[in-house]
Amino acid sequence: MITGASNGIGKQVATDLAARGAIVAGCGRSIERLRDTLKEVRRASPSSAMIGCDVGDAEQVQSMVAKIVGDFGKIDVLINNAGVGMRKPFIETDLKTIEEIIRTNYLGAVYCTKAVLPHMIARRAGHVVNISSGAGLIGALNMAAYCASKFALNGWSESLYHELKPLGIDVSIVCPGPVQTEFSRDFRDSQPKAAPNLIVPVEAVAQAVIKVLENKHFEVVLPRWLALMSSLRRHFPSFFRALAQRRFRRHVALPGKISGNAD
Ligand SMILES: NC(=O)c1ccc[n+]([C@@H]2O[C@H](COP(=O)([O-])OP(=O)(O)OC[C@H]3O[C@@H](n4cnc5c(N)ncnc54)[C@H](OP(=O)(O)O)[C@@H]3O)[C@@H](O)[C@H]2O)c1
Repeated sequence: MITGASNGIGKQVATDLAARGAIVAGCGRSIERLRDTLKEVRRASPSSAMIGCDVGDAEQVQSMVAKIVGDFGKIDVLINNAGVGMRKPFIETDLKTIEEIIRTNYLGAVYCTKAVLPHMIARRAGHVVNISSGAGLIGALNMAAYCASKFALNGWSESLYHELKPLGIDVSIVCPGPVQTEFSRDFRDSQPKAAPNLIVPVEAVAQAVIKVLENKHFEVVLPRWLALMSSLRRHFPSFFRALAQRRFRRHVALPGKISGNAD
């Protein structure tokens, strides 16, 4: 089962897993795009299915999981991938946007995992893979709500890892840097932009997901430069923060107008 299969990373992972013989049950909100994914996926895996579902709605998630378990009998792997992003100063971000980001990126994964886990625990088998981000390891400028959702996902995943490992269930996080998808279509031109040569192809992220399903490592960070940055931050936090501040501060502008009302 993979969330956010209608586009980007989720669509690529769904297609690659189907090509390796998996039966894929994917979800998203856009039925039209899900149809496209289904066409691709069914070429290699005719029993696969796509279901319209908003992961930020716990009831929709419950009925989707009940349908998948009813139709296929079990869920071996859950990939929590659905996500939305932003790049804007916190002070200019309205509460509705912040709530949508937390609801989709963090609570969406919580709702899906809560619905799927009883079935995995009953079989003492399963793997939950959470698609996080470099923004779940490093606090990036103008991404406060997004970073919060991905840091939450990482802490929750690490705690779940300890809870579920003795029950035969693996938990992993995959943390990519900027990926070439439509993810940033609404904020592509806002600063600080990623240098084009640092952007990861979507196929590389899908390969990393497949690799983690095989080797069951807890954390994968890609590409290499991001793994290096993340390790630098972990070991030398003050030094790293000073470096990051030097890079980020030129992109901080005084807001033209700051209203007292957050909305
Ligand atoms: N692209 C990047 O630079 C990048 C970097 C690091 C991590 N990531 C993470 O990778 C994941 C996938 O991103 P992407 O780059 O593939 O973005 P994308 O091309 O915009 O795809 C996002 C997917 O999530 C789905 N989605 C969004 N909100 C949803 C909701 N409420 N319920 C169900 N599905 C929902 C979308 O489907 P619908 O619109 O049809 O609902 C779409 O299938 C996200 O978690 C993102 O945070 C992305």
